[in-house]
Amino acid sequence: MSTSGPTPDAVTEIAAGYAFTGPALDLGALLWDGAAHPEAAVRIPLPVLNRHGLVAGATGTGKTKTLQLIAEQLSAQGVPVFLADVKGDLSGISAPGEAGEKVQARAAEVGQKWTPSGFPADFYALGGIGHGIPVRATVTSFGPVLLAKVLQLNPTQEQSLGLIFHYADTKGLELLDLKDLRAVVAFLTSDEGKTELTNIGGLSTATAGVILRSLTAFEAQGMSDFFGEPEFDTADFLRTAPDGRGIVSVLELPAVQDKPQLFSTFLMWLLADLFHDLPEIGDADKPRLVFFFDEAHLLFNGASKAFLDSITQTVRLIRSKGVGVFFVTQTPKDVPADVLAQLGNRVQHALRAFTPDDQKALKATVKTFPNSAYDLEELLTSLGTGEAVVTVLSEKGAPTPVAATRLRAPESLMGPVEAGVLERAVAGSVLYGRYAQAVDRESAYEKLEQRPASGAAVEPQRKKEAPSMVEQVMGSGMFKSLARSIGTQLGREITRSLFGTARRRR
Ligand SMILES: Nc1ncnc2c1ncn2[C@@H]1O[C@H](COP(=O)(O)OP(=O)(O)O)[C@@H](O)[C@H]1O
Ligand SMILES: [Mg+2]
Repeated sequence: MSTSGPTPDAVTEIAAGYAFTGPALDLGALLWDGAAHPEAAVRIPLPVLNRHGLVAGATGTGKTKTLQLIAEQLSAQGVPVFLADVKGDLSGISAPGEAGEKVQARAAEVGQKWTPSGFPADFYALGGIGHGIPVRATVTSFGPVLLAKVLQLNPTQEQSLGLIFHYADTKGLELLDLKDLRAVVAFLTSDEGKTELTNIGGLSTATAGVILRSLTAFEAQGMSDFFGEPEFDTADFLRTAPDGRGIVSVLELPAVQDKPQLFSTFLMWLLADLFHDLPEIGDADKPRLVFFFDEAHLLFNGASKAFLDSITQTVRLIRSKGVGVFFVTQTPKDVPADVLAQLGNRVQHALRAFTPDDQKALKATVKTFPNSAYDLEELLTSLGTGEAVVTVLSEKGAPTPVAATRLRAPESLMGPVEAGVLERAVAGSVLYGRYAQAVDRESAYEKLEQRPASGAAVEPQRKKEAPSMVEQVMGSGMFKSLARSIGTQLGREITRSLFGTARRRR
Protein backbone atom coordinates (compact mmCIF):
# COMPACT_ATOMS: atom_id res chain seq x y z
CA MET A 1 0.00 0.00 0.00
CA SER A 2 1.24 3.45 -0.90
CA THR A 3 2.90 5.56 1.78
CA SER A 4 2.16 8.88 0.08
CA GLY A 5 -1.59 8.41 0.36
CA PRO A 6 -4.31 11.01 0.11
CA THR A 7 -4.77 13.68 2.79
CA PRO A 8 -7.46 13.18 5.47
CA ASP A 9 -9.69 15.66 3.62
CA ALA A 10 -9.33 13.74 0.41
CA VAL A 11 -10.19 10.53 2.28
CA THR A 12 -13.38 12.06 3.65
CA GLU A 13 -14.31 13.18 0.17
CA ILE A 14 -13.70 9.73 -1.31
CA ALA A 15 -15.81 8.07 1.42
CA ALA A 16 -18.63 10.55 0.78
CA GLY A 17 -18.60 9.53 -2.89
CA TYR A 18 -19.77 6.03 -1.90
CA ALA A 19 -22.53 6.98 0.54
CA PHE A 20 -25.40 5.88 -1.70
CA THR A 21 -28.93 5.89 -0.35
CA GLY A 22 -30.51 3.07 -2.38
CA PRO A 23 -29.60 -0.64 -2.59
CA ALA A 24 -25.94 -1.25 -3.35
CA LEU A 25 -23.44 -4.10 -3.40
CA ASP A 26 -20.52 -3.99 -0.96
CA LEU A 27 -17.14 -4.28 -2.57
CA GLY A 28 -14.98 -3.66 0.47
CA ALA A 29 -13.46 -1.00 2.69
CA LEU A 30 -11.43 2.07 1.82
CA LEU A 31 -7.73 1.55 2.28
CA TRP A 32 -5.39 4.22 3.53
CA ASP A 33 -2.17 4.35 5.58
CA GLY A 34 -1.90 0.62 5.03
CA ALA A 35 -5.16 -0.25 6.78
CA ALA A 36 -8.74 -0.91 5.73
CA HIS A 37 -11.37 1.43 7.16
CA PRO A 38 -14.70 -0.37 7.48
CA GLU A 39 -16.56 2.85 8.27
CA ALA A 40 -15.73 3.96 4.71
CA ALA A 41 -17.47 1.27 2.64
CA VAL A 42 -16.77 1.14 -1.09
CA ARG A 43 -19.94 0.09 -2.86
CA ILE A 44 -21.66 -0.08 -6.21
CA PRO A 45 -25.31 0.97 -6.60
CA LEU A 46 -27.53 -1.89 -7.79
CA PRO A 47 -29.19 0.15 -10.57
CA VAL A 48 -25.87 0.90 -12.34
CA LEU A 49 -24.91 -2.73 -12.86
CA ASN A 50 -26.34 -2.53 -16.37
CA ARG A 51 -23.72 0.14 -17.07
CA HIS A 52 -21.15 -2.58 -17.52
CA GLY A 53 -17.78 -3.06 -15.92
CA LEU A 54 -14.18 -4.10 -16.06
CA VAL A 55 -12.24 -6.15 -13.53
CA ALA A 56 -8.54 -6.08 -14.42
CA GLY A 57 -5.20 -7.01 -12.90
CA ALA A 58 -2.25 -9.36 -13.16
CA THR A 59 -2.68 -13.10 -12.63
CA GLY A 60 -3.30 -14.04 -9.02
CA THR A 61 -4.30 -10.56 -7.84
CA GLY A 62 -7.92 -11.49 -7.08
CA LYS A 63 -9.94 -10.78 -10.24
CA THR A 64 -11.94 -13.99 -10.17
CA LYS A 65 -12.73 -13.58 -6.46
CA THR A 66 -13.95 -10.06 -7.14
CA LEU A 67 -16.18 -11.44 -9.85
CA GLN A 68 -17.42 -14.06 -7.38
CA LEU A 69 -18.25 -11.60 -4.61
CA ILE A 70 -20.12 -9.31 -6.99
CA ALA A 71 -22.01 -12.27 -8.48
CA GLU A 72 -23.01 -13.54 -5.02
CA GLN A 73 -24.48 -10.25 -3.97
CA LEU A 74 -26.37 -9.90 -7.24
CA SER A 75 -27.91 -13.32 -6.71
CA ALA A 76 -28.79 -12.38 -3.13
CA GLN A 77 -30.57 -9.27 -4.45
CA GLY A 78 -32.61 -11.37 -6.88
CA VAL A 79 -30.55 -10.71 -9.99
CA PRO A 80 -29.69 -13.72 -12.21
CA VAL A 81 -26.04 -13.94 -13.15
CA PHE A 82 -24.15 -15.62 -15.96
CA LEU A 83 -20.53 -16.68 -15.39
CA ALA A 84 -18.13 -17.89 -18.05
CA ASP A 85 -15.94 -20.22 -15.99
CA VAL A 86 -12.82 -20.49 -18.10
CA LYS A 87 -10.47 -21.86 -15.45
CA GLY A 88 -12.97 -24.12 -13.73
CA ASP A 89 -12.64 -22.20 -10.44
CA LEU A 90 -16.16 -20.76 -10.18
CA SER A 91 -18.35 -23.79 -9.49
CA GLY A 92 -17.74 -23.14 -5.78
CA ILE A 93 -20.30 -20.34 -5.91
CA SER A 94 -22.90 -23.08 -5.39
CA ALA A 95 -21.43 -24.17 -2.04
CA PRO A 96 -20.80 -22.39 1.27
CA GLY A 97 -17.27 -21.07 1.74
CA GLU A 98 -14.78 -22.42 4.27
CA ALA A 99 -13.99 -20.22 7.23
CA GLY A 100 -10.21 -20.12 7.13
CA GLU A 101 -8.04 -17.80 9.21
CA LYS A 102 -7.30 -15.54 6.26
CA VAL A 103 -10.94 -15.18 5.33
CA GLN A 104 -11.91 -14.38 8.94
CA ALA A 105 -9.14 -11.80 9.19
CA ARG A 106 -10.13 -10.15 5.93
CA ALA A 107 -13.79 -10.09 6.93
CA ALA A 108 -12.91 -8.43 10.24
CA GLU A 109 -10.71 -5.83 8.52
CA VAL A 110 -13.36 -4.76 6.05
CA GLY A 111 -16.30 -4.96 8.49
CA GLN A 112 -17.97 -7.89 6.75
CA LYS A 113 -20.32 -10.14 8.68
CA TRP A 114 -19.06 -13.22 6.91
CA THR A 115 -21.74 -15.93 6.60
CA PRO A 116 -20.82 -19.00 4.56
CA SER A 117 -23.47 -19.37 1.82
CA GLY A 118 -23.91 -21.28 -1.41
CA PHE A 119 -26.00 -19.78 -4.21
CA PRO A 120 -28.56 -21.44 -6.51
CA ALA A 121 -26.61 -22.49 -9.59
CA ASP A 122 -26.97 -24.32 -12.89
CA PHE A 123 -23.95 -25.66 -14.75
CA TYR A 124 -23.65 -25.65 -18.50
CA ALA A 125 -21.12 -26.94 -21.01
CA LEU A 126 -20.74 -26.02 -24.66
CA GLY A 127 -22.15 -28.83 -26.75
CA GLY A 128 -22.04 -31.03 -23.67
CA ILE A 129 -18.25 -31.15 -23.59
CA GLY A 130 -17.29 -31.29 -19.93
CA HIS A 131 -19.66 -31.29 -16.98
CA GLY A 132 -22.80 -29.35 -17.69
CA ILE A 133 -26.16 -29.10 -19.36
CA PRO A 134 -25.33 -28.99 -23.10
CA VAL A 135 -25.66 -25.57 -24.71
CA ARG A 136 -26.17 -25.79 -28.46
CA ALA A 137 -26.99 -23.28 -31.17
CA THR A 138 -28.17 -23.89 -34.70
CA VAL A 139 -25.91 -22.71 -37.50
CA THR A 140 -28.64 -20.33 -38.71
CA SER A 141 -29.07 -18.78 -35.34
CA PHE A 142 -25.33 -18.44 -34.93
CA GLY A 143 -25.18 -16.54 -38.20
CA PRO A 144 -22.43 -15.81 -40.72
CA VAL A 145 -20.54 -13.12 -38.74
CA LEU A 146 -19.95 -15.27 -35.69
CA LEU A 147 -19.34 -18.39 -37.73
CA ALA A 148 -16.79 -16.56 -39.88
CA LYS A 149 -15.02 -15.66 -36.67
CA VAL A 150 -14.78 -19.26 -35.45
CA LEU A 151 -13.76 -20.47 -38.89
CA GLN A 152 -11.18 -17.67 -38.97
CA LEU A 153 -12.32 -16.44 -42.36
CA ASN A 154 -11.07 -13.20 -43.89
CA PRO A 155 -13.53 -10.37 -44.68
CA THR A 156 -14.12 -11.52 -48.30
CA GLN A 157 -14.80 -15.07 -47.15
CA GLU A 158 -17.01 -13.74 -44.38
CA GLN A 159 -19.11 -11.85 -46.94
CA SER A 160 -19.32 -14.94 -49.11
CA LEU A 161 -20.51 -16.95 -46.13
CA GLY A 162 -23.24 -14.34 -45.67
CA LEU A 163 -24.34 -14.91 -49.26
CA ILE A 164 -24.43 -18.65 -48.70
CA PHE A 165 -26.63 -18.21 -45.63
CA HIS A 166 -28.92 -15.97 -47.59
CA TYR A 167 -29.12 -18.49 -50.40
CA ALA A 168 -29.97 -21.33 -48.01
CA ASP A 169 -32.57 -19.14 -46.38
CA THR A 170 -34.39 -18.29 -49.60
CA LYS A 171 -34.28 -21.93 -50.75
CA GLY A 172 -35.74 -23.29 -47.54
CA LEU A 173 -32.60 -25.24 -46.73
CA GLU A 174 -32.45 -25.10 -42.94
CA LEU A 175 -28.96 -24.80 -41.55
CA LEU A 176 -29.21 -26.56 -38.22
CA ASP A 177 -25.87 -28.29 -37.84
CA LEU A 178 -22.50 -28.12 -39.56
CA LYS A 179 -23.30 -30.91 -41.99
CA ASP A 180 -26.23 -28.85 -43.28
CA LEU A 181 -23.94 -25.96 -44.07
CA ARG A 182 -21.31 -28.22 -45.55
CA ALA A 183 -23.93 -29.86 -47.77
CA VAL A 184 -25.09 -26.48 -49.11
CA VAL A 185 -21.54 -25.29 -49.83
CA ALA A 186 -20.62 -28.64 -51.38
CA PHE A 187 -23.71 -28.41 -53.59
CA LEU A 188 -22.81 -24.91 -54.75
CA THR A 189 -19.29 -25.99 -55.68
CA SER A 190 -20.52 -29.12 -57.52
CA ASP A 191 -21.20 -29.28 -61.27
CA GLU A 192 -24.88 -29.47 -60.50
CA GLY A 193 -24.86 -26.35 -58.36
CA LYS A 194 -22.83 -24.14 -60.70
CA THR A 195 -25.81 -22.25 -62.10
CA GLU A 196 -27.08 -21.55 -58.62
CA LEU A 197 -23.67 -20.27 -57.60
CA THR A 198 -23.57 -17.94 -60.59
CA ASN A 199 -27.07 -16.70 -59.78
CA ILE A 200 -26.03 -15.76 -56.26
CA GLY A 201 -23.51 -13.28 -57.69
CA GLY A 202 -20.44 -12.13 -55.81
CA LEU A 203 -19.56 -15.64 -54.68
CA SER A 204 -16.63 -17.33 -56.39
CA THR A 205 -16.07 -21.06 -56.63
CA ALA A 206 -12.60 -20.54 -55.18
CA THR A 207 -13.93 -18.79 -52.06
CA ALA A 208 -16.70 -21.33 -51.63
CA GLY A 209 -13.98 -24.00 -51.85
CA VAL A 210 -11.98 -22.32 -49.08
CA ILE A 211 -15.07 -22.13 -46.87
CA LEU A 212 -15.79 -25.78 -47.51
CA ARG A 213 -12.28 -26.79 -46.51
CA SER A 214 -12.35 -24.70 -43.34
CA LEU A 215 -15.69 -26.28 -42.41
CA THR A 216 -14.28 -29.74 -42.90
CA ALA A 217 -11.25 -28.89 -40.76
CA PHE A 218 -13.50 -27.39 -38.10
CA GLU A 219 -15.60 -30.54 -37.94
CA ALA A 220 -12.46 -32.65 -37.77
CA GLN A 221 -11.49 -30.76 -34.60
CA GLY A 222 -14.66 -32.09 -33.01
CA MET A 223 -16.69 -28.89 -33.22
CA SER A 224 -19.87 -30.47 -34.58
CA ASP A 225 -21.37 -31.01 -31.13
CA PHE A 226 -21.85 -27.31 -30.50
CA PHE A 227 -24.20 -26.85 -33.43
CA GLY A 228 -27.66 -28.32 -33.71
CA GLU A 229 -30.82 -28.88 -31.75
CA PRO A 230 -32.36 -28.59 -29.25
CA GLU A 231 -31.10 -25.04 -29.35
CA PHE A 232 -30.54 -23.42 -25.99
CA ASP A 233 -33.11 -20.85 -24.97
CA THR A 234 -31.19 -17.99 -23.37
CA ALA A 235 -34.31 -17.03 -21.41
CA ASP A 236 -33.28 -19.90 -19.13
CA PHE A 237 -30.56 -17.59 -17.83
CA LEU A 238 -33.16 -15.18 -16.46
CA ARG A 239 -34.58 -17.44 -13.76
CA THR A 240 -34.83 -16.88 -10.05
CA ALA A 241 -34.94 -19.58 -7.38
CA PRO A 242 -38.11 -20.16 -5.29
CA ASP A 243 -36.47 -18.17 -2.46
CA GLY A 244 -36.20 -15.14 -4.76
CA ARG A 245 -32.45 -15.25 -5.29
CA GLY A 246 -31.12 -14.96 -8.82
CA ILE A 247 -29.93 -18.20 -10.37
CA VAL A 248 -26.24 -18.26 -11.18
CA SER A 249 -25.65 -19.89 -14.56
CA VAL A 250 -22.11 -21.17 -14.73
CA LEU A 251 -20.83 -22.07 -18.18
CA GLU A 252 -18.03 -24.54 -17.56
CA LEU A 253 -15.39 -23.87 -20.17
CA PRO A 254 -12.13 -25.48 -19.10
CA ALA A 255 -12.52 -28.15 -21.77
CA VAL A 256 -12.56 -25.49 -24.47
CA GLN A 257 -9.73 -23.33 -23.19
CA ASP A 258 -7.61 -24.33 -26.15
CA LYS A 259 -10.41 -23.29 -28.51
CA PRO A 260 -10.67 -19.59 -27.64
CA GLN A 261 -12.34 -18.67 -30.92
CA LEU A 262 -15.14 -21.07 -30.33
CA PHE A 263 -15.85 -20.18 -26.76
CA SER A 264 -15.67 -16.44 -27.28
CA THR A 265 -18.00 -16.47 -30.24
CA PHE A 266 -20.42 -18.66 -28.34
CA LEU A 267 -20.51 -16.15 -25.54
CA MET A 268 -21.26 -13.43 -28.05
CA TRP A 269 -24.00 -15.55 -29.53
CA LEU A 270 -25.57 -15.86 -26.09
CA LEU A 271 -25.48 -12.09 -25.65
CA ALA A 272 -26.82 -11.36 -29.12
CA ASP A 273 -29.59 -13.89 -28.61
CA LEU A 274 -30.58 -12.33 -25.30
CA PHE A 275 -30.52 -8.94 -26.91
CA HIS A 276 -32.99 -10.05 -29.56
CA ASP A 277 -35.40 -11.52 -27.07
CA LEU A 278 -35.53 -8.91 -24.35
CA PRO A 279 -37.78 -5.87 -24.43
CA GLU A 280 -36.35 -2.44 -23.62
CA ILE A 281 -36.53 -1.39 -19.98
CA GLY A 282 -34.09 1.50 -19.94
CA ASP A 283 -32.44 2.18 -16.58
CA ALA A 284 -34.35 0.09 -14.03
CA ASP A 285 -34.07 -0.45 -10.24
CA LYS A 286 -31.86 -3.44 -10.86
CA PRO A 287 -30.52 -5.30 -13.88
CA ARG A 288 -32.29 -8.31 -15.35
CA LEU A 289 -29.08 -10.23 -15.77
CA VAL A 290 -25.39 -9.59 -15.35
CA PHE A 291 -22.99 -11.38 -17.61
CA PHE A 292 -19.33 -11.96 -16.62
CA PHE A 293 -16.67 -12.81 -19.17
CA ASP A 294 -13.57 -14.08 -17.38
CA GLU A 295 -10.37 -14.17 -19.48
CA ALA A 296 -12.01 -11.67 -21.83
CA HIS A 297 -8.89 -11.08 -23.91
CA LEU A 298 -9.77 -14.34 -25.65
CA LEU A 299 -12.84 -12.60 -26.98
CA PHE A 300 -10.99 -9.79 -28.72
CA ASN A 301 -7.74 -11.42 -29.86
CA GLY A 302 -7.56 -11.67 -33.62
CA ALA A 303 -11.14 -10.48 -34.07
CA SER A 304 -12.24 -9.02 -37.41
CA LYS A 305 -13.45 -5.45 -37.64
CA ALA A 306 -16.98 -6.70 -38.28
CA PHE A 307 -16.83 -8.83 -35.15
CA LEU A 308 -15.45 -6.01 -33.00
CA ASP A 309 -18.08 -3.64 -34.32
CA SER A 310 -20.76 -6.15 -33.41
CA ILE A 311 -19.41 -6.57 -29.88
CA THR A 312 -19.26 -2.81 -29.44
CA GLN A 313 -22.80 -2.37 -30.67
CA THR A 314 -24.15 -5.24 -28.58
CA VAL A 315 -22.52 -3.88 -25.43
CA ARG A 316 -23.85 -0.41 -26.18
CA LEU A 317 -27.42 -1.47 -26.83
CA ILE A 318 -27.93 -4.31 -24.38
CA ARG A 319 -27.74 -1.94 -21.44
CA SER A 320 -31.22 -0.60 -22.17
CA LYS A 321 -32.49 -4.18 -22.01
CA GLY A 322 -31.29 -4.38 -18.44
CA VAL A 323 -28.29 -6.60 -19.11
CA GLY A 324 -24.92 -5.70 -17.63
CA VAL A 325 -21.67 -7.07 -19.01
CA PHE A 326 -18.46 -7.32 -16.99
CA PHE A 327 -15.18 -8.09 -18.69
CA VAL A 328 -12.48 -9.68 -16.56
CA THR A 329 -8.98 -9.54 -17.99
CA GLN A 330 -5.38 -8.60 -17.26
CA THR A 331 -5.18 -5.03 -18.52
CA PRO A 332 -7.68 -2.55 -19.93
CA LYS A 333 -5.57 -2.71 -23.11
CA ASP A 334 -7.11 -6.13 -23.77
CA VAL A 335 -10.44 -4.41 -24.42
CA PRO A 336 -10.96 -2.26 -27.56
CA ALA A 337 -11.23 1.47 -26.79
CA ASP A 338 -14.84 1.69 -28.02
CA VAL A 339 -15.89 -1.06 -25.62
CA LEU A 340 -13.75 0.23 -22.76
CA ALA A 341 -15.41 3.63 -23.03
CA GLN A 342 -18.73 1.97 -22.16
CA LEU A 343 -17.54 0.21 -19.03
CA GLY A 344 -18.75 2.48 -16.23
CA ASN A 345 -17.67 0.35 -13.27
CA ARG A 346 -14.02 -0.41 -12.73
CA VAL A 347 -12.16 -2.65 -10.31
CA GLN A 348 -8.47 -2.52 -11.10
CA HIS A 349 -6.27 -4.95 -9.21
CA ALA A 350 -2.48 -4.78 -9.01
CA LEU A 351 -0.36 -4.65 -12.13
CA ARG A 352 3.22 -5.75 -12.52
CA ALA A 353 5.90 -3.37 -13.73
CA PHE A 354 8.77 -5.74 -14.50
CA THR A 355 9.25 -5.34 -18.23
CA PRO A 356 9.07 -2.28 -20.51
CA ASP A 357 5.80 -3.72 -21.85
CA ASP A 358 4.42 -3.92 -18.30
CA GLN A 359 5.46 -0.29 -17.76
CA LYS A 360 3.63 0.76 -20.89
CA ALA A 361 0.49 -1.12 -19.92
CA LEU A 362 0.66 0.44 -16.46
CA LYS A 363 0.88 3.99 -17.83
CA ALA A 364 -1.95 3.27 -20.27
CA THR A 365 -4.09 1.91 -17.43
CA VAL A 366 -3.48 4.98 -15.27
CA LYS A 367 -4.66 7.18 -18.15
CA THR A 368 -8.02 5.38 -18.24
CA PHE A 369 -8.85 6.56 -14.69
CA PRO A 370 -10.36 9.88 -13.68
CA ASN A 371 -8.10 12.36 -11.85
CA SER A 372 -7.57 11.33 -8.28
CA ALA A 373 -5.77 12.00 -5.02
CA TYR A 374 -3.47 9.03 -5.63
CA ASP A 375 -0.23 8.42 -7.40
CA LEU A 376 -1.85 5.62 -9.37
CA GLU A 377 1.35 4.25 -10.88
CA GLU A 378 2.77 3.67 -7.44
CA LEU A 379 -0.51 2.48 -5.98
CA LEU A 380 -1.26 -0.02 -8.74
CA THR A 381 2.12 -1.70 -8.36
CA SER A 382 1.88 -1.92 -4.56
CA LEU A 383 -1.67 -3.27 -4.01
CA GLY A 384 -1.89 -6.64 -2.27
CA THR A 385 -3.95 -9.66 -3.27
CA GLY A 386 -7.67 -8.92 -3.07
CA GLU A 387 -7.08 -5.17 -3.10
CA ALA A 388 -7.98 -2.89 -5.97
CA VAL A 389 -8.50 0.62 -7.22
CA VAL A 390 -12.21 1.21 -7.69
CA THR A 391 -14.34 3.74 -9.49
CA VAL A 392 -17.99 3.06 -10.28
CA LEU A 393 -20.99 5.09 -11.35
CA SER A 394 -23.02 6.82 -8.70
CA GLU A 395 -26.81 6.51 -8.60
CA LYS A 396 -26.84 9.64 -10.76
CA GLY A 397 -24.50 8.05 -13.28
CA ALA A 398 -21.43 10.15 -12.46
CA PRO A 399 -18.05 8.48 -11.83
CA THR A 400 -17.29 8.04 -8.12
CA PRO A 401 -13.93 9.14 -6.71
CA VAL A 402 -11.10 6.69 -7.28
CA ALA A 403 -10.82 4.55 -4.13
CA ALA A 404 -8.09 2.16 -3.00
CA THR A 405 -10.09 -0.74 -1.60
CA ARG A 406 -9.57 -3.94 0.33
CA LEU A 407 -12.21 -6.24 -1.06
CA ARG A 408 -14.55 -8.43 0.92
CA ALA A 409 -14.15 -12.20 0.88
CA PRO A 410 -16.60 -14.29 -1.16
CA GLU A 411 -19.03 -16.14 1.13
CA SER A 412 -19.27 -19.11 -1.19
CA LEU A 413 -16.50 -21.63 -1.75
CA MET A 414 -13.37 -20.25 -3.43
CA GLY A 415 -12.40 -22.77 -6.09
CA PRO A 416 -14.28 -25.68 -7.63
CA VAL A 417 -16.75 -28.07 -5.99
CA GLU A 418 -15.93 -31.78 -6.28
CA ALA A 419 -16.62 -33.45 -9.63
CA GLY A 420 -19.27 -35.71 -8.12
CA VAL A 421 -21.15 -32.76 -6.65
CA LEU A 422 -21.07 -31.03 -10.01
CA GLU A 423 -22.32 -34.11 -11.84
CA ARG A 424 -25.23 -34.51 -9.44
CA ALA A 425 -26.14 -30.84 -9.80
CA VAL A 426 -26.16 -31.16 -13.59
CA ALA A 427 -28.25 -34.32 -13.71
CA GLY A 428 -30.60 -32.94 -11.07
CA SER A 429 -31.34 -29.68 -12.89
CA VAL A 430 -34.86 -29.10 -14.18
CA LEU A 431 -33.28 -28.16 -17.54
CA TYR A 432 -31.31 -31.36 -18.00
CA GLY A 433 -34.15 -33.31 -19.60
CA ARG A 434 -34.83 -30.55 -22.09
CA TYR A 435 -31.30 -30.21 -23.44
CA ALA A 436 -29.32 -33.36 -22.68
CA GLN A 437 -30.24 -35.32 -25.82
CA ALA A 438 -29.25 -33.99 -29.27
CA VAL A 439 -31.93 -34.15 -32.00
CA ASP A 440 -31.26 -34.34 -35.76
CA ARG A 441 -34.36 -33.43 -37.75
CA GLU A 442 -34.70 -32.99 -41.51
CA SER A 443 -32.80 -29.97 -42.78
CA ALA A 444 -30.50 -28.88 -45.62
CA TYR A 445 -28.31 -31.99 -45.52
CA GLU A 446 -31.23 -34.40 -45.75
CA LYS A 447 -33.02 -32.28 -48.37
CA LEU A 448 -29.98 -32.08 -50.60
CA GLU A 449 -29.39 -35.83 -50.20
CA GLN A 450 -32.92 -36.55 -51.34
CA ARG A 451 -33.09 -34.16 -54.29
CA PRO A 452 -33.80 -35.68 -57.73
CA ALA A 453 -30.53 -36.40 -59.48
CA SER A 454 -31.21 -34.22 -62.53
CA GLY A 455 -33.38 -31.20 -61.99
CA ALA A 456 -33.15 -27.81 -60.38
CA ALA A 457 -32.12 -28.35 -56.83
CA VAL A 458 -34.61 -26.70 -54.58
CA GLU A 459 -37.54 -24.36 -54.76
CA PRO A 460 -37.62 -20.97 -53.13
CA GLN A 461 -39.62 -21.18 -49.94
CA ARG A 462 -40.87 -17.76 -49.13
CA LYS A 463 -40.66 -14.27 -50.47
CA LYS A 464 -38.53 -11.69 -48.72
CA GLU A 465 -40.37 -9.18 -46.58
CA ALA A 466 -40.06 -5.47 -47.14
CA PRO A 467 -37.40 -3.82 -44.95
CA SER A 468 -39.74 -1.05 -43.86
CA MET A 469 -41.83 -3.62 -42.08
CA VAL A 470 -38.72 -5.01 -40.45
CA GLU A 471 -37.93 -1.59 -39.09
CA GLN A 472 -41.43 -1.14 -37.74
CA VAL A 473 -41.41 -4.45 -35.92
CA MET A 474 -37.94 -3.88 -34.48
CA GLY A 475 -39.11 -0.85 -32.63
CA SER A 476 -42.30 -2.41 -31.36
CA GLY A 477 -41.00 -4.97 -28.89
CA MET A 478 -43.41 -7.46 -30.43
CA PHE A 479 -40.65 -9.05 -32.37
CA LYS A 480 -40.80 -12.56 -31.00
CA SER A 481 -44.47 -13.26 -31.40
CA LEU A 482 -44.54 -11.62 -34.80
CA ALA A 483 -41.47 -13.43 -35.97
CA ARG A 484 -43.10 -16.64 -34.85
CA SER A 485 -46.31 -16.01 -36.71
CA ILE A 486 -44.79 -14.67 -39.89
CA GLY A 487 -42.16 -17.37 -40.01
CA THR A 488 -38.43 -17.50 -39.91
CA GLN A 489 -37.66 -15.24 -42.85
CA LEU A 490 -38.68 -11.96 -41.32
CA GLY A 491 -37.36 -12.93 -37.92
CA ARG A 492 -34.00 -13.66 -39.42
CA GLU A 493 -33.88 -10.38 -41.26
CA ILE A 494 -34.47 -8.55 -38.01
CA THR A 495 -32.07 -10.44 -35.84
CA ARG A 496 -29.31 -10.45 -38.41
CA SER A 497 -29.41 -6.70 -38.41
CA LEU A 498 -27.48 -6.62 -35.17
CA PHE A 499 -25.07 -9.50 -35.16
CA GLY A 500 -25.71 -11.55 -38.24
CA THR A 501 -27.52 -14.04 -36.05
CA ALA A 502 -31.02 -15.35 -36.51
CA ARG A 503 -33.50 -16.95 -34.21
CA ARG A 504 -34.85 -20.40 -34.38
CA ARG A 505 -38.47 -21.14 -35.10
CA ARG A 506 -40.08 -21.84 -31.74
N1 LIG B 1 -11.48 -10.96 -2.16
C1 LIG B 1 -10.73 -11.99 -1.73
N2 LIG B 1 -11.01 -12.61 -0.57
C2 LIG B 1 -10.26 -13.64 -0.14
N3 LIG B 1 -9.22 -14.15 -0.81
C3 LIG B 1 -8.88 -13.59 -1.99
C4 LIG B 1 -9.62 -12.48 -2.50
N4 LIG B 1 -9.06 -12.13 -3.67
C5 LIG B 1 -8.03 -12.98 -3.89
N5 LIG B 1 -7.92 -13.86 -2.89
C6 LIG B 1 -6.90 -14.94 -2.80
O1 LIG B 1 -6.03 -14.84 -3.91
C7 LIG B 1 -6.08 -15.99 -4.74
C8 LIG B 1 -6.05 -15.58 -6.22
O2 LIG B 1 -7.24 -14.90 -6.56
P1 LIG B 1 -7.93 -15.06 -7.97
O3 LIG B 1 -9.21 -14.32 -7.90
O4 LIG B 1 -8.00 -16.47 -8.38
O5 LIG B 1 -6.88 -14.29 -8.91
P2 LIG B 1 -6.97 -13.96 -10.48
O6 LIG B 1 -8.31 -14.31 -10.98
O7 LIG B 1 -6.65 -12.50 -10.59
O8 LIG B 1 -5.88 -14.78 -11.11
C9 LIG B 1 -7.36 -16.69 -4.35
O9 LIG B 1 -7.27 -18.08 -4.51
C10 LIG B 1 -7.53 -16.31 -2.88
O10 LIG B 1 -6.81 -17.16 -2.05
MG1 LIG C 1 -8.87 -15.66 -12.49
